Amino acid sequence: MEASSRSPPHVCVTGGGGFIGSWLVKLLLSRGFAVHATVRDPRDAKNAFLMQLDGAPANLRLFKGDMLDYDTVTAAFAGCEGVFHVATPVPEQKIVDPQKEMMDPAVKGTMNVLKACSATEVKKLILVSSIAASCFTLDWPPDKIKDESCWSDKELCKENENWYSLAKTTAEEMALEYGLKNGLHIATLLPGLVFGPLLQHVAVNTTSNVLIYILKGGPDTMNNKFYPMVDVRDVAEALLLLYNKAGSSERYICSLDQMDLKDLLGILKNMYPNYRCTDKMVDVDYKVIVTSDKLKNLGWKPRKLEETLEDSIKSYEKAGLLQSSDGKPFRLPYIYRMPPILE
Ligand SMILES: NC(=O)c1ccc[n+]([C@@H]2O[C@H](COP(=O)([O-])OP(=O)(O)OC[C@H]3O[C@@H](n4cnc5c(N)ncnc54)[C@H](OP(=O)(O)O)[C@@H]3O)[C@@H](O)[C@H]2O)c1
Repeated sequence: MEASSRSPPHVCVTGGGGFIGSWLVKLLLSRGFAVHATVRDPRDAKNAFLMQLDGAPANLRLFKGDMLDYDTVTAAFAGCEGVFHVATPVPEQKIVDPQKEMMDPAVKGTMNVLKACSATEVKKLILVSSIAASCFTLDWPPDKIKDESCWSDKELCKENENWYSLAKTTAEEMALEYGLKNGLHIATLLPGLVFGPLLQHVAVNTTSNVLIYILKGGPDTMNNKFYPMVDVRDVAEALLLLYNKAGSSERYICSLDQMDLKDLLGILKNMYPNYRCTDKMVDVDYKVIVTSDKLKNLGWKPRKLEETLEDSIKSYEKAGLLQSSDGKPFRLPYIYRMPPILE
């Protein structure tokens, strides 16, 4: 068969309309994949940009998919050899009902994804976990850099009502166990705090709102923790790298060398003296120092933070997201406010 007449490899991206999901869809299309992307509402204006991506008319299909509805998940996976499971809520406000808002979509949703992989022809699953699944533990020696052998302590997450970390840890652990028991090839990626340019600005994701908040300033005090940070485009590249190269049951941390928010603020003030940038910040004795050497050894080459910031801010400016004239007080996403979730 001629190479050109071969059907492209089919993969599914869950949460394809989200910040990370959409950059991954864009990357996969550019690398010749046929992509099934799940979105909860294909008619929502915030998803319209997807069909305008290069290659989309020929190689992108949108599926209405709720991770809590198993039938919609299997329908989206049908005909795919690989799945990237990205869809999980990243809460912006204080969580009121942890089971409904966080645990069900993250954990039951991931179980539906796992079962749907087994029920279809899917051979490989790449799961987007989070650094939040590896950093909340008091057992790790304080000066030792955290690597992939470090897991968040679920009891500690519960005590601190850190529902996001609890959900991401539980879902990742469950997925890796499922893969081992059921012979499904699964690798997981644990990104740090993700920034980068937006592909759509109708619905801005939580972590982009952190950076927008810092630039605009506002009423909230931030907790000055050490945060591992990473560019959304490098997260997409890392996911594809895992798809092509990672062994089964492997975890990969994905972040730049970390700095604390105060240092980030220093860089921003230097680069953008015209923005008023928040400086309400309280130091907390909590550091998350991690290494991404395992991912770098696989061939991952992240860009510099300055490039990420420059491109992010250019995209916010273009979308008018840094103007402060709408009259509403702009709030910092909840988990970055004081009091900190873990001291
Ligand atoms: N941003 C970060 O700093 C960061 C860091 C580490 C890990 N992550 C992980 O990366 C993934 C994507 O996050 P993001 O930053 O790109 O946020 P995002 O833009 O808010 O994307 C989240 C996606 O999940 C979808 N989703 C939520 N609940 C769903 C459900 N029940 N069924 C189907 N889809 C559902 C959302 O769909 P709707 O558009 O319909 O709401 C959205 O597409 C998440 O798994 C998150 O935990 C993010």
